[in-house]
Amino acid sequence: MKTIFSGIQPSGTLTIGNYIGAMKQFVELQDDYQCYFCIVDEHAITVPQDRLKLRENIRSLAALYLASGINPEKSVLFIQSEVSAHTQLGWMLQCVAYIGELERMTQFKDKSKGKEAVSAGLLTYPPLMAADILLYNTDIVPVGNDQKQHLELTRDLAERFNRKYNDIFTIPEVRMPKVGARIMSLQNPTKKMSKSDENNKASIFILDDEKTVEKKIKSAVTDSVGTIKYDPENRPGISNLITIYTSFSDETIESIEAKYEGKGYGAFKEDLANVVIEGLSPIQERYYELINSNELDEVLDHGAEQANFQAMKMIRKAKKAMGLGRVKKRK
Ligand code: TYM
Repeated sequence: MKTIFSGIQPSGTLTIGNYIGAMKQFVELQDDYQCYFCIVDEHAITVPQDRLKLRENIRSLAALYLASGINPEKSVLFIQSEVSAHTQLGWMLQCVAYIGELERMTQFKDKSKGKEAVSAGLLTYPPLMAADILLYNTDIVPVGNDQKQHLELTRDLAERFNRKYNDIFTIPEVRMPKVGARIMSLQNPTKKMSKSDENNKASIFILDDEKTVEKKIKSAVTDSVGTIKYDPENRPGISNLITIYTSFSDETIESIEAKYEGKGYGAFKEDLANVVIEGLSPIQERYYELINSNELDEVLDHGAEQANFQAMKMIRKAKKAMGLGRVKKRK
């Protein structure tokens, strides 16, 4: 059986972008693959975090994974910092990565732009992400479009390591959803929807209540054409809303266009709000059951155990390949 690995940062409340681009794919894949899903808290501290808020976000993300349909009987769900192999292999891969290639990462450039104090972790984030993936002999990494460049670097680092030391890493493939790999901001549809957008109306969060979802969709930026037609290049606003519609309803883009022929944005937005609310409400219901439950801790304990066992096998191989540690002399 092929292996899947993916991770999400507990750096704020998840948006429907994270859900459509990542989580929804995870749920669909877990029947056919050995899956590892991770709460990548060590990635989150590359930018300043409030200690208590981070703790809360970690638990909240774990509950959201389960509430969205990740089944712990099929998939391994765990917290990155509870499996120390990640930072260990991350260090080894930092020693394989070049500063130049890390400086070229768009995410590094975006997040460090204009800042005086930029953490070294922000620069060395991609080798840690590569370690996450490579520890588990991962074949496929389901992510949204913004992680594509990190995946390419992961492949480069794995190939470089295999060539230089020993052929131990599987070279992973990226997998992005055909529709919804890049959900855009509702207020500026040329920009990605993001957990950390300062404009609260730009993103729909998975835990937003009905009224909030309705309001945000109503105020979403469209254009003056007035028809419901998918044309992301020329009409990014309405096309983004159609993408959200198809992702939550499983109706095709064509059938949505046909359904709203002759109708305006008002009717379309009202229905879209209902489709999103209907999609989110079972997730929210289950989330509130789980968030303070022992069940959640049991799943995470078991997940960390399984991940540790698997990851340590790769650490032993990587250390041996690089010549770290020692071989005991026999008497
Ligand atoms: P993160 O936490 O920013 O996002 C989690 C997942 O959500 C996807 N995503 C989106 N998809 C569609 N539209 C959007 N607007 C949108 N915003 C986010 C992301 O592509 C991602 O799949 N570096 C990663 C976390 C990570 C990871 C890994 C992922 C760490 N180690 C190993 C895969 C494998 C990140 O910051 O994702």
